[in-house]
Amino acid sequence: MDQTTRILGIESSCDETAAAVVENGRSIASSIVASQIDLHAAYGGIFPEVASRAHIECIESVVSQALSTAHVGLESLDAIAVTRGPGLAGSLVVGMNMAKGMAMGAGLPLIGINHLEAHLYSLWLVADENEPEFPLLGLIVSGGHTELVLMKNHLTYQRLGGTLDDAAGEAFDKIARLLDLGFPGGPAIEAAAEGGDPTAFDFPRAWLEGTWDFSFSGLKTAVLREVRELEPDLEAGVASPSVDLPIADLAASFQAAVVDVLVGKTLSAADEFGAGQLLVAGGVSANRSLRTTFLARSKVQVRVPPIELCTDNAAMIAAAGHWRYLAGQRDALDIDVMPNWPIA
Ligand code: KG4
Ligand code: ZN
Repeated sequence: MDQTTRILGIESSCDETAAAVVENGRSIASSIVASQIDLHAAYGGIFPEVASRAHIECIESVVSQALSTAHVGLESLDAIAVTRGPGLAGSLVVGMNMAKGMAMGAGLPLIGINHLEAHLYSLWLVADENEPEFPLLGLIVSGGHTELVLMKNHLTYQRLGGTLDDAAGEAFDKIARLLDLGFPGGPAIEAAAEGGDPTAFDFPRAWLEGTWDFSFSGLKTAVLREVRELEPDLEAGVASPSVDLPIADLAASFQAAVVDVLVGKTLSAADEFGAGQLLVAGGVSANRSLRTTFLARSKVQVRVPPIELCTDNAAMIAAAGHWRYLAGQRDALDIDVMPNWPIA
């Protein structure tokens, strides 16, 4: 039995302001997430300045809701875990300053957490009695990240690869914008792809043989070129709603290309490194085609946490905080955020 802990997690790396109380790295006593998605929709993507201002406006209330929902006061916490990076600098600072202030005021240890590591620890929040099996292969696919990470043991990682250009979710968002489908693009593309033919357009797959990296820029350009051919008067890179484009086929063919590469490379890596289990996390893991393709093709167990634990949340930060706390990590109150912090 692991030592009992109660950790407050704080997350503000991108466009979600979140706080949570987690016991023993597994049991969620509260998890509050304030999403800014509506604020960013007008820009068709995350606008950093808007994000940090929105974090400042709601962080105090999000943290106090997390504590009151869990019915705990600061005195019954063991530590405060906060996302230190990677993420938007101006956004990270808001969560970090909140955590530092509380840690100082209440005399609690401060633990800086890598956001990507935390995505992996979301698996412990859904693990029941069954311990996840090492080595565990994690694919973290969101609007900001496409990372393939081998978790060899607790707190021990090997970064296999990641995107060289756009993150997978970013590619969904950009193609949705091109097709005038709205933001966030992932769910819009997924809905538009229903009834479409995924083989209608033979879009390129960047396999980048010999590496575990990904690239979506060639695919993005190929879709743009196709739309330009179908709509020569394309304005400002956004298709005109009045032009009769084969949206369903374009969306389905684009989605198939992304899913093919994500699943294909992840499963090859699982084979090569003898992974006992696969974890798919991040907003893009909501994609049903991605989930079903993984489940159909993987030889080892695939875990996809429920969507509220796949998208950015603070329960995963607190869960990672538990293991770092047990390992003895205590950070100084003058630590800085690390916007480009790699997991390994
Ligand atoms: O993890 P997440 O909520 O947060 C950030 O990255 O900030 O991921 C959001 C990303 C967006 O790019 C969104 O378009 C994508 O995840 N996404 C999806 C789906 N739902 C969300 N992509 C593909 N299919 C989906 N169903
Ligand atoms: Zn994330």
